[in-house]
Amino acid sequence: MAEAEKTLVGDHLVDKIRRRRKLAETVSPLPAAPRVITVSNQKGGVGKTTTTVNLASALARRGARVLVIDLDPQGNASTALGVPHRPEVTSVYDVLLGDSSLDDALQPTTDHENLFCVPSTINLAGAEIELVSLVAREQRLRTALQSFLAQAEHAYHYVFIDCPPSLGLLTVNAFVAADEVLIPIQCEYYALEGLSQLLGNIQLIQKHLNPGLAISTILLTMYDARTNLAQEVAGEVRSHFPEQVLGAVIPRSVRISEAPSYGQTVHAYDGGSIGALAYLEAAAEMAERGAGAPQAADSHEDGEA
Ligand SMILES: Nc1ncnc2c1ncn2[C@@H]1O[C@H](COP(=O)(O)OP(=O)(O)OP(=O)(O)O)[C@@H](O)[C@H]1O
Ligand SMILES: [Mg+2]
Repeated sequence: MAEAEKTLVGDHLVDKIRRRRKLAETVSPLPAAPRVITVSNQKGGVGKTTTTVNLASALARRGARVLVIDLDPQGNASTALGVPHRPEVTSVYDVLLGDSSLDDALQPTTDHENLFCVPSTINLAGAEIELVSLVAREQRLRTALQSFLAQAEHAYHYVFIDCPPSLGLLTVNAFVAADEVLIPIQCEYYALEGLSQLLGNIQLIQKHLNPGLAISTILLTMYDARTNLAQEVAGEVRSHFPEQVLGAVIPRSVRISEAPSYGQTVHAYDGGSIGALAYLEAAAEMAERGAGAPQAADSHEDGEA
């Protein structure tokens, strides 16, 4: 290895050790009431599911009791948390249709004793249509979640809802059930495309269905520090949303992308990796901010770049 390369590796190592030490020295505060956070972006493959499971797992590892609701028929969050989601399993589909309570559908995860999951099954693919004719079709998840949280034996600190890459009734149910929206943004060329549509939809939800909803958090994902493009996109997102973007950034990492194929989060798969560290830092920052000072979506009308 050339001297310059050795220095670079050394620098990385020192940086990682410093960041780990800082995390170990801080205790994440627990919220007084459960924070219900919808992870949404109608753009596909931007890291919604990866962010949901790894943030949830990170918060559980930092002492919070956490529930993940998988609201995507693809069931990727259920897979990553090692939770069975064959069609016959009681799932969020049965909850939305009013046939089961969230408590009945809840499962422990293989990831952590503080982390629980309500899985999705393939049945959910038909739910968008089945929901249309039901009473209070937009409020079904909210009603189920509120009664679950009110009766839960042990208090939950965070509920994450993983959304499909669309803005149908499932995503509307998630927006209505939540207090906060977390938007993962992939640091690539078309990152901001479609964002104004998402913000417009959130505004509509605020106006008609859930006035308390706020975009509290934006997380930059799949960041490749070696490219100018990633730095430019990150800079642009930060200038549009200075309050919401977390300082922590999730790097593009092979370990993060490998973990789900083992039915694991990155923390279980390779807890010492830089990807695991980044999600722990993001979790600590979210906890520290509490609900932060969330800004209403209507202040971002010109959010698209
Ligand atoms: N930081 C990362 N580094 C490398 N690969 C990543 C990272 N984050 C996510 N990926 C990979 O990118 C792909 C898309 O991620 P993910 O499934 O989380 O996105 P999504 O927004 O949930 O997708 P969908 O819209 O289909 O639900 C996956 O293969 C995932 O493993
Ligand atoms: Mg997904």
